[in-house]
Amino acid sequence: MNVLLTGGAGYIGSHTAVEIMRAGHGVVIADDLSNASEKVIERIEKLGGKKVYFYKIDVCDKAALDGVFALHDISAVVHFAGKKAVGESVAQPLMYYRNNLDATITLLEVMQKHSVNRLIFSSSATVYGIPKTVPVDENAPRGCNNPYGWTKYMSEQIMRDACEANKDLAVVLLRYFNPIGAHESGVIGEDPEGIPNNLMPFIAQVAVGRREMLGVFGDDYPTHDGTGVRDYIHVVDLAQGHVAALDYTENNSGALAVNLGTGRGYSVLDIVKTFERVNGIEIPYRIMPRRAGDAAVIYADSSLAKTLLNWEAKRDLEDMCRDTWNWQKNNPNGYRS
Ligand SMILES: NC(=O)c1ccc[n+]([C@@H]2O[C@H](COP(=O)([O-])OP(=O)(O)OC[C@H]3O[C@@H](n4cnc5c(N)ncnc54)[C@H](O)[C@@H]3O)[C@@H](O)[C@H]2O)c1
Repeated sequence: MNVLLTGGAGYIGSHTAVEIMRAGHGVVIADDLSNASEKVIERIEKLGGKKVYFYKIDVCDKAALDGVFALHDISAVVHFAGKKAVGESVAQPLMYYRNNLDATITLLEVMQKHSVNRLIFSSSATVYGIPKTVPVDENAPRGCNNPYGWTKYMSEQIMRDACEANKDLAVVLLRYFNPIGAHESGVIGEDPEGIPNNLMPFIAQVAVGRREMLGVFGDDYPTHDGTGVRDYIHVVDLAQGHVAALDYTENNSGALAVNLGTGRGYSVLDIVKTFERVNGIEIPYRIMPRRAGDAAVIYADSSLAKTLLNWEAKRDLEDMCRDTWNWQKNNPNGYRS
């Protein structure tokens, strides 16, 4: 079958495209390249061993998206397209609501027009806000503390309502925990514009000499070493979770929310130390004040993914650190290298 990946030129989308191709499917990508490089397309083709049909369009442009559906016999969609920087969403909430919600609604309208009823959505553990207990399962109370998170929360609701109205529609809302790492080939990886918002790309840029020092936000949390604990998941495991979710939509309908995490928490300093040990590189760091809105500890209850999708993460923290460095050292300036 052919699968459309909105936002498929981005970090998670590019890794997922490769896994979908390796599972035997055709891939069509629609991405406006607002946060990606066109260079990734030929690299996906190299790793996936097939042609990728790429359209540089804004998913909110209904006519353009309709054109893609008219050209290809699309059976399912994975919807990655969206802006994702929490801080930017606080500064420019309307831009986030406009882009992320418009993209979701436009996509659902065009899917409906073309009778495409299988959808996987990039949701996020951010919909749990600051959880009261860990591990966090899919029934934990939800509530967000920034506009980015609300766009995920609202998109989930829009998709649930669409499923209520169309009993043939199947949607899997994948709530990602903290994706890191890169394809083991070192050919594709994470390539943030400007100063990285997330821990691992920051560490990688310190390692390669693009930044002097890592800032660690808070060392007085109630955790084993005082730094925040998160559930880091290898991006290739995450990508394979999408293939499992696509399979699930073949024989099921309705909306299903599923956590994609490893079920294990690591602290910021665990990551720094593992990266140093596995790659033999020192990462200088400085303790900074806590960041507003950061939880002490979040990790997933990942049992539902195993039960319903027959999926679980296979790669460990060492793999994540090694593959990140393999990508960064081969591409010191990302896709601009
Ligand atoms: N990376 C994470 O830590 C994380 C965690 C949870 C959820 N997510 C979600 O997963 C998805 C993919 O994340 P990523 O890390 O690969 O981000 P990314 O920025 O690398 O990928 C998103 C892609 O969407 C494209 N895009 C944005 N708006 C668009 C539009 N209107 N039309 C067409 N293309 C558009 C961008 O150019 C980019 O290539 C996002 O929806 C993100 O919110 C990411």
